[in-house]
Amino acid sequence: MLPPDATRAAAIHHDVLGAEFITRAGPRFLRRYYLAWMRSDGGMALAARVDGQVVGALLGSIRPAQHYRSMLRRDGWRLGALMLGRSLAHPGFGAELFLTRGMRYSRALLRMARTRLSTHPPTGGPVVPPVPALNRSAIGEVTHVLVDAAYQGRGVARALLAEAEEQAGRAGLHRLVLVTTPELARSGLYERLGWTPQGQLASGSGEEFWRYERDVSGRT
Ligand SMILES: CC(C)(COP(=O)(O)OP(=O)(O)OC[C@H]1O[C@@H](n2cnc3c(N)ncnc32)[C@H](O)[C@@H]1OP(=O)(O)O)[C@@H](O)C(=O)NCCC(=O)NCCS
Repeated sequence: MLPPDATRAAAIHHDVLGAEFITRAGPRFLRRYYLAWMRSDGGMALAARVDGQVVGALLGSIRPAQHYRSMLRRDGWRLGALMLGRSLAHPGFGAELFLTRGMRYSRALLRMARTRLSTHPPTGGPVVPPVPALNRSAIGEVTHVLVDAAYQGRGVARALLAEAEEQAGRAGLHRLVLVTTPELARSGLYERLGWTPQGQLASGSGEEFWRYERDVSGRT
């Protein structure tokens, strides 16, 4: 996915995942979310195109911990400000944000502030980026797969997931994981795509999900 695709990807996201919390954070938040994902280290943002037009998107990460840290460091304040703005304009959303995610997000912002204060880059000499160690047993994740309603049922999600699996395998990962809603789990979508169900779990905000895994080893 390229930065100019963010608006279109966010629009599809809005249309097909309208009830999701980040969608309710508003179109500006959603667009920034995609941009942030694209420029994070260790993130994976894929776009599916038909005749040059974006018709589907996949978000995930090859190094989840590094990805979230990077996203928070680079775009945390912007995303936080957009969420705060949305909360002021839509108090219902603000109340939900505070009740379900307030503590978790505040802790993340505090961690980010501390990191910023304690890690000023050295001045004068060249800055050498750390080389990430290749961990063969590392696990990556897929967080979103979504397809424009007009293009559903044509293999777009299958193609996006195949590309994500390929990239994860090439990066030396053994497994990719994802979570999905109980409804989609019941539909058998991910089993059809070759993923294995791992059981139920509750998110930090109390929503119920099903976890799936996909072996991606040996795809180098
Ligand atoms: C779920 C979604 C991503 C599927 O995209 P898609 O491009 O239509 O899927 P594909 O055409 O690649 O289908 C792949 C396989 O899954 C099956 N499938 C697709 N949607 C399905 C559904 N809702 N339930 C059950 N199976 C489904 C297809 O039949 C196909 O199987 P087959 O090849 O054995 O026939 C799409 O419907 C969507 O964007 N939904 C809204 C967003 C969403 O719920 N995303 C997932 C959670 S983040």
